[in-house]
Amino acid sequence: MNYTSLLEQVEAKKIVPVVKLDRASDARALGEALCAGGLPVAEVTFRTDAAEESIRIMKREFPEMMVGAGTVVNVEQAERALAAGASFLVSPGISRSVVEFALDHKLPIFPGTCTPSEVMTAMEYELLVVKFFPAAQYGGLNTIKALAAPFPSVRFMPTGGINASNIMEYLASDKIIACGGSWMVKDSLINAGDFEEITRLTAEAVALVSEKREG
Ligand code: 3PG
Repeated sequence: MNYTSLLEQVEAKKIVPVVKLDRASDARALGEALCAGGLPVAEVTFRTDAAEESIRIMKREFPEMMVGAGTVVNVEQAERALAAGASFLVSPGISRSVVEFALDHKLPIFPGTCTPSEVMTAMEYELLVVKFFPAAQYGGLNTIKALAAPFPSVRFMPTGGINASNIMEYLASDKIIACGGSWMVKDSLINAGDFEEITRLTAEAVALVSEKREG
């Protein structure tokens, strides 16, 4: 998928569930739970060894899903994400080698930033959207607004500390393309096999952000 289409899809969804799967054998049920909740998107983080296989399974079982790789901190992980069929990469920070790998392979990337210098590094690569992480600890929307002022072409995908109680505050700003968060896909729910609760929380989140789209 090209960069522009991917950005449009991310913006339409408004939420990117950030997933940590300990077992790839849970990937199918998780994909099903997210799709049933109306949010066929996942950022599967390379915080565990199950990430690569989980991405592969989700892409195979749910071709309509937009499945990206998260917590990509080096080129080796980026290569594995690409091989598994990831539609995009997300990094907690900005690594030139990872960004260059992504651009060379036409793989959309959201590098993590939280300072003007990091945003400027992303701009050197003509990236239009950066992750802002960890959002809550770095001052949330106020910091994003201050960061956005000198960089009018850049938009942000905040993650870290976002949940149903504060996501609408972020989405009210046109500087925010979408928010990442794990509140509907917590490891504890995945590890307990409580996929019904994941679907319920996902549907609740989708309903919440739909209000904004309609209003
Ligand atoms: C991330 O990797 O983007 C964050 O850890 C997600 O943050 P959250 O768990 O606070 O939603």
